Amino acid sequence: MKQLSDSKIYEQELQYWPYIKSWKKVLNYLVKNTPRNGTLIDIMCGPGYLLGKIAQKRKDLSLYGVDIDKRYISFSKKKYPKINFTIGNVLTYKSKQLYDVVICTGSLHHVPYEKQDKAVKNMASMVKQNGFCLISDCLMDDYDNEKQRKISAAKLGYEYLRKTIQNGAPDNVVEATIDILYNDVMMHEYKTSLKKRMPVYKKYFSKVQTIKVWPKTKTKYGDYIMICKK
Ligand SMILES: C[S@@+](CC[C@H](N)C(=O)[O-])C[C@H]1O[C@@H](n2cnc3c(N)ncnc32)[C@H](O)[C@@H]1O
Repeated sequence: MKQLSDSKIYEQELQYWPYIKSWKKVLNYLVKNTPRNGTLIDIMCGPGYLLGKIAQKRKDLSLYGVDIDKRYISFSKKKYPKINFTIGNVLTYKSKQLYDVVICTGSLHHVPYEKQDKAVKNMASMVKQNGFCLISDCLMDDYDNEKQRKISAAKLGYEYLRKTIQNGAPDNVVEATIDILYNDVMMHEYKTSLKKRMPVYKKYFSKVQTIKVWPKTKTKYGDYIMICKK
């Protein structure tokens, strides 16, 4: 993730990345399915871009954002004064209330592998009984050992980069996309497979709806949206 001063660049990158499809689908889903006058919290919200768009389309909602990076939180507070932003860690954040909707988009792979279970558990604990949790993340092909993990990360990174270039991305965006591949292969970020992630969701939610957004072809790797209910 880029630094605070680069949040405009992040919005620019988003326009060329395959992730934009998932991002737009999530926005539409939330605008349509969040209950009237409901509460929605975005965990690992970054610079608050998604919450800002939801706020424009659903003025009845009470919106909350949590991120570990205080620079994002002070930036977001200024940019979206009607939204409630708080500094917090997905692993330890405790809220005084439960929410109709808890979301975490394109972010869970920033949490180290051995802590992803705890992050999902904590998010599940914030959802009202009849609410839902929406988690979108990019997943790669399954792997059994570190060599295979690196190869899966390289394959996903290559396909992601290819699509970004095909979409006409300028060089600064291509460079940032190469960084994603680097971070995934070298385990500075922690993308996993559907096979490894699904049991974690099933541990904390009784219903998990899987929506594969990119690519349209039958691959295991790609951008996924999970709608999880208790
Ligand atoms: C890819 S960015 C945010 C993406 C944003 N949700 C979106 O869809 O555009 C990942 C975010 O996770 C935050 N983050 C990383 N580790 C975190 C943690 N343990 N708890 C809370 N936020 C964390 C980073 O500060 C960063 O803003």
